[in-house]
Parts: sequence; C-alpha cells; structure tokens
Amino acid sequence: MCGIVGYLGFQDPKKIIIDGLKKLEYRGYDSAGIAVVDKGQTKRIRAAGKLKNLEEKLINEHFSGHLGIGHTRWATHGAPVEKNAHPHQVGEISLVHNGIIENYLDIKKDLIARGAKITSDTDSELVAHLINEEIQVTKNLLLAVQKTLGKLIGAFSIVVIWEKSPDEIIAFKDGPPLIVGVGEKEFFIVSDVQAALQYTKNFVYLEDREVVHIQNNEIKYFSALGAPLKKQIVQVDWNTEQVEKMGFKHFMLKEIYEQPRAVAAAIRPHLNTETHQVEMQTLGFVKSNAEIFKSIDRIMFVACGTSYYAAMVGKYLIEQAGNLPVEIDVASEFRYRKPIVPKNTLLITISQSGETADTLAAIRLAKEKGALTLSITNVQKSSIDREAHGHLYMNSGVEVGVASTKAFTSTIALLNVLALQIAKDRGVLTADQEKNYVTQLLAVPSQLEVVLAYDKYFSEAAKKLQEFKGFLYLGRGVSYPIALEGALKLKELAYMHAEGYAAGEMKHGPLALIDSNMAIVVVAPTDELIEKTISNLQEAKARGGKIISIGTGENAALQSMSEYYLSIPASSWMAHPLLSVVPLQLMSYHLADSLGYDVDQPRNLAKSVTVE
Ligand code: M6R
Repeated sequence: MCGIVGYLGFQDPKKIIIDGLKKLEYRGYDSAGIAVVDKGQTKRIRAAGKLKNLEEKLINEHFSGHLGIGHTRWATHGAPVEKNAHPHQVGEISLVHNGIIENYLDIKKDLIARGAKITSDTDSELVAHLINEEIQVTKNLLLAVQKTLGKLIGAFSIVVIWEKSPDEIIAFKDGPPLIVGVGEKEFFIVSDVQAALQYTKNFVYLEDREVVHIQNNEIKYFSALGAPLKKQIVQVDWNTEQVEKMGFKHFMLKEIYEQPRAVAAAIRPHLNTETHQVEMQTLGFVKSNAEIFKSIDRIMFVACGTSYYAAMVGKYLIEQAGNLPVEIDVASEFRYRKPIVPKNTLLITISQSGETADTLAAIRLAKEKGALTLSITNVQKSSIDREAHGHLYMNSGVEVGVASTKAFTSTIALLNVLALQIAKDRGVLTADQEKNYVTQLLAVPSQLEVVLAYDKYFSEAAKKLQEFKGFLYLGRGVSYPIALEGALKLKELAYMHAEGYAAGEMKHGPLALIDSNMAIVVVAPTDELIEKTISNLQEAKARGGKIISIGTGENAALQSMSEYYLSIPASSWMAHPLLSVVPLQLMSYHLADSLGYDVDQPRNLAKSVTVE
C-alpha cells in the first residue's frame, strides 16, 4: 500500500526521502509528497500522480533542515489528487499515514463540532488535527501522540513531526508495518527496509500499538500505555543491488530472469545435493519436523492472489505425494467465514510480503482456534513471519514488480520439498521415488534457464495475443492453478479479460464463449491427464477457438492444433508448474509492455496489500 519514509539525521532529508520513496513507489503510486522542518517552519510539497511529478516540483527546492517525512500514496479515502496527498499538515503538526482509520466518521464529526477546518477527503488529515489539538495543550509531542493513539481504531502506521521541535520524530503503528532504521547519528522510519537499506543494515520492527520516540540522537520505545520497552535490533542482509534493475527494462523482467537463482536459493538448504535426498531444515517448531508431519491430520493453506494459486499447487502436491488431506482458502474468506479448524491441523500461510492484511488476520484467527501455524514468506521478520509458530523462507531476494513472479516459483519449489518431506516422514515415499523427484527438482534451475532462452518466442506469441477479445486459460491437475495464475498475470498487466478454468469444466459453460475472437491458452505438459486435455482442446478448436499451448518437448498432437506452441523441458509432474508458468509470465509481460502499460506498477494495484 502506501510507502513511508521519515528521516532525522545530519544528511539532506530531501535526498534521503526521495531516494527511499523511489524504492517504495511500487507499493503505491497515485500521489506523493514530502515535508521538511526548515528553520522552525514546515515546508511541504505534494504532487498528484507518480513520484517523478513530485521530483519535478522539488528541482529548485532546497532545504536546510535535517528532519522530514515523505509518502507515496495508494488511495483508500479520497481521490488521488494533490489535496489528498500526504504529508498532511495541520498547524504545527505534519504526518504521513498508511492504512485506514475505521472510526474516521466519528472523529470527523467531533472535529467539525469543535470548529476544525478539514481540507482533504482523507482519514489521515483527521489524525493530524487530533495531534495538533493535543499539542496545543501538552506542548509535548510524545504525550500528544500517546493521547491520540487511544482515540484511533483501524489499521494504520503513522510518522509525525512537529515544527517546533526539529530534533524529534515519532512513529506508531497498529497493522501495517513500520520499521526503524538505526544508523550512526541518523534514523529512518520506513514502511519497508528497502527504503533505508543503502544507509543501514540495522532495523527494529515495531509491533502493533508500539510507539518509537527519537529525540536528540536518543531512541526510546513505548507501549500504547506509555510503558518503556526494550527492542531488539535485527540485521538485514539484503544488499542494495538486489533492489536495482541491473540493466533490465523493468523490475518484473529482471525478477522473471532471476527465477533459476531464486528457485535454487529456495530449495538448496533443504535438499542433499550429493545423495539426492530431502532433508528439510528445521522449521523452528518446538517439536521436530518429522514429529509434526507424522502427527498432523490435515493441512490448511490460506493466502491471497498469486500466493493463493501457489497454495492450490501445494494441495495437489501434498495430497498426491504425501497422502494427507489439504484444504485451501482465500484469506479474506477464511477470516470471516467462521472456519472450522480441527485438532491436529497445520495451517500454512503463504505471503511474499508477509504483510498482507487478510493473511495476517487469518493466521491470528487460526492461532486463536488452536492451530499450529507455519508461514512461508519472502520477507523475514515481516508481520506474518513473526506471528507464525514455524517458518519457511522463499529466499528470493527483494521482489519489486507488483506482479509476483519469482516469489511464486520459489514458493512452489518449497512446496515440492515440503510435499516430499511429508511423504517421506509419513512413510509413503520409497527411496527410489525420493531420489527421482529430488533429482528432477534439482534440475529445475538449469531447465528454467532453457525456458528463458526461448523468450523471443514468448514475445512473438504475445504479439498474436493482441488480436483477441478474450482469453481462456486452461489446465488440469497441477496445471489448473497455473492456468489461473496465467489469467491473473494477463489481467493485472495487460488489462485484458481472461479467465482461468479447469480444462474439464469447459463443456459445463465456458464452451459457449468460444469463437474466433477467443484465445485459448492451455497449460498441458505431458502427464497422465494430457490425452484428456487434448480432447478438451479438440472441442474448443472445432468451435473456432484459437489455441496457444504450452507442452513438453516436441508434442506433435498439441503442435498440430495450436497457432503457437511453446515448449518446456521434460520434468516430474511435481515440477511442471515451475517451468510452465514462465512462458505465461513472459507473454503477459511482453504484451503489456508493447501496449505501453506500466509493467512494474499496474494501475490501481499495490505490491503489499496492508489494508483489507
Ligand atoms: O505478499 P503476498 O504474497 O501476501 O501478496 C498476495 C497478493 O496480493 C499478490 O500475490 C498479488 O495477487 C500479486 N499482484 C499477483 O501478481
């Protein structure tokens, strides 16, 4: 959602804040702003649209202060226009806010009754009014913030500065992440470590309803009730290179190309590369992995978006290889449908960011219901990671493109490992099968290089896609979630209507859609269901549908019926999704790019969805 950068130190705050916001722009990009305390006065500059609009406005602006806040917005309350852009300033107080103040209508009514002049349509401005009212009385920023915090209901992270106090900055949160970067005589308060990574590797993660108060180089943490807290500094080992484009036109393209390395980084810690056995590292539970896997009766996966499709793949893998029942749920449904979580359930959340509000709420609910929880995240120490009993990491490196790619394949690679380990521990995997699956999994990174080498064919196929009015993505078994993911990628990047379907469902309705304007993208690697999928395609072709297919090696039957045939290397059925999704990612990428769309920051979307 929104990106936040606060700075107090000795360097030029404009540079630090704008550099930081550039790293966060992928989170929200409909307006941006900066406020710096300069010679006892607040200088605030805001602009609608992308960050570059703000940068243009700032070209001739020079600040002499060393305290400031900045923000990129993803609108919740109020249109993306300048008056709603952050920072919001009321009197001596300026703040930036990520999230939602749920009781904003009550607050607004009371403020208006007390004569406040509201200038924006946002809930955020109201918080600035509340703090400004308090500061008139207390003349103490910490007290003013603590009193205001008690009046707020919702999900928020907020950074506040006071123009009367140029060596002081305060932040607090309840929901969306807020992290303090601790440098040498300088401090950063950011919504994502990437924004401060070039200045420090030392970070402190705020928990809900905690307050950080930095004044005159002294940093203190408090509970909402004002009790002092001791917080631990965490060293983050990502480097700044990982958040640069490294010569690629877009972050998304770079991240697609990083998949061989990302998949290898995900699986290597858990596989013995000599014996080709699965040896999953400890997940951090009190009991051993084997004890847990032997004692559970079911797994429930909860996630959103692309992570949900990864969970769907997980269901096929674990049920089929591990003979263990698996349920899957979209987090926004799970959290509100009074789910039944039976005894001996392992609930697994999947989240690249580790901050998705619905997934976070779901894991908390599952814990209340007594479930043992495991999180699969990319961002270590993120809120979901910290909430879970056990932890599994994607190790993909920073994913900046709003459309998730390498996090998806890394997760599926981990789910391969998890399924094999469960199967082994539950005694349903022979030594030969184990060796065979692990060997094929270890081959995936180099097979991914091969798939990527065919990019020019995917780009050609993408040109073909421009002709069509609608798209059906089809697949069976583990390829069904890949069809859903392919359709999602096309929707979010190229803004075209696409639907993913289980191939066997065609004749139950979607077949009626088919004519020569409809493209059928089929994910059909060679497996035991391939013949059935080919029959479904015959039915579609007979009705004029144009077929673009992804198959294994030289599949003559598929080739003969397709306008475009895209080949992937042979692999085990468990590893198919890792290879078959790449042509779909690249086709959507090239199509969106050729249409001139902003691939890294598709309209209306945000990378990390920290509001429900
Ligand atoms: O950070 P998460 O994995 O929890 O994010 C979940 C979804 O918001 C995310 O996968 C979204 O669907 C992507 N934009 C898809 O490309």
